[in-house]
Amino acid sequence: MEKITIIGAGNVGAHAAVSAATLELGNVVLLDKNGDLAKGKALDITQSMALIQSDVIVTGTDDYKDTADSSVVIITAGVSRKPGMSRDDLLLINAGILESVVRQAIEYSPNCILIVVTNPINTMVQLAYDISGFSKERVIGMAGILDGGRFKYFIAQELNIGSSEVVTMVLGDHGALMVPLEDHCQVNGQPIAELLPRERIEAIVKRVQHAGSEIVNLLKTGSSYFAPGLAVIQMAKSILRDDHKTMPCAVYLEGEYGVDGAFVGVPVVLGRNGVEKIIEIHLSDKESAAFKISVEHIRERTEDLNNKRNIKA
Ligand code: APR
Repeated sequence: MEKITIIGAGNVGAHAAVSAATLELGNVVLLDKNGDLAKGKALDITQSMALIQSDVIVTGTDDYKDTADSSVVIITAGVSRKPGMSRDDLLLINAGILESVVRQAIEYSPNCILIVVTNPINTMVQLAYDISGFSKERVIGMAGILDGGRFKYFIAQELNIGSSEVVTMVLGDHGALMVPLEDHCQVNGQPIAELLPRERIEAIVKRVQHAGSEIVNLLKTGSSYFAPGLAVIQMAKSILRDDHKTMPCAVYLEGEYGVDGAFVGVPVVLGRNGVEKIIEIHLSDKESAAFKISVEHIRERTEDLNNKRNIKA
């Protein structure tokens, strides 16, 4: 059986573990600095597997030895947002956590594929790439698949149809400057511009960009976790089963989309080697302008982190 490690047994990590176990992707190791939390949740999830005739085992631990030889390591460790916070506000604290987690995880799973969920994702995945020394194909951030799901749901709700009939793509940063591709959004081959008035589309795009905050404001104690937990496992599934599914992920660009040397959300094909291919779609002028601003924000935040870390060091 495959081995999948999930680091951080909080809300996102636990839901990712449930999704991986339910899909029977492999045995799951759930690691948290709070070992009892990880062990308790692991027991609960494994016992739920017995109810659906599944032999998958989820092990809880605080010891990286138990994660040895994982095929995929998913990082959700970190602090999540509270009302009034942006993902960028988590920068320095989550960078410290990420650094220690990546070093320990790759010591025991040197051949794994790393998937980063900790926010702000585009900068945390860059940090994981720098620290690990892994090839760019093996370090991936989860973002666009979640944002694309939110976009689908809002369009479907507006048109009173099923989400599965809507095709979406969300590029760039995972934050308020993300780029939901409105000119590429379609329902059964029909562009949404033919189905909805311009102002409704713009309102939906704005809601997608702030969909995480909408949930943070309702929960009051943390950020969303059901959809992020499931989204990251869709990525792990395409990798472990070598499905070659195309989904938007934060990956290292070297010239694609006119970007050199940054982790940006773009559509990629995920298979056994991680990022098998980067798909370059032609953006409209409006999408292209928004994408440039989004990439600029990623660069500024990464630079901000580097400056803060240099001052600290
Ligand atoms: N090593 C291992 N686990 C850690 C470490 C560490 N150094 N630091 C923190 N953790 C664990 C915490 O003990 C906690 O159980 O990470 C877990 C985080 O869980 P939650 O607070 O529930 O946060 P969650 O909602 O899961 O979000 C985690 O994912 O979506 C992003 O923005 C979100 O960055 C946040 C991350």
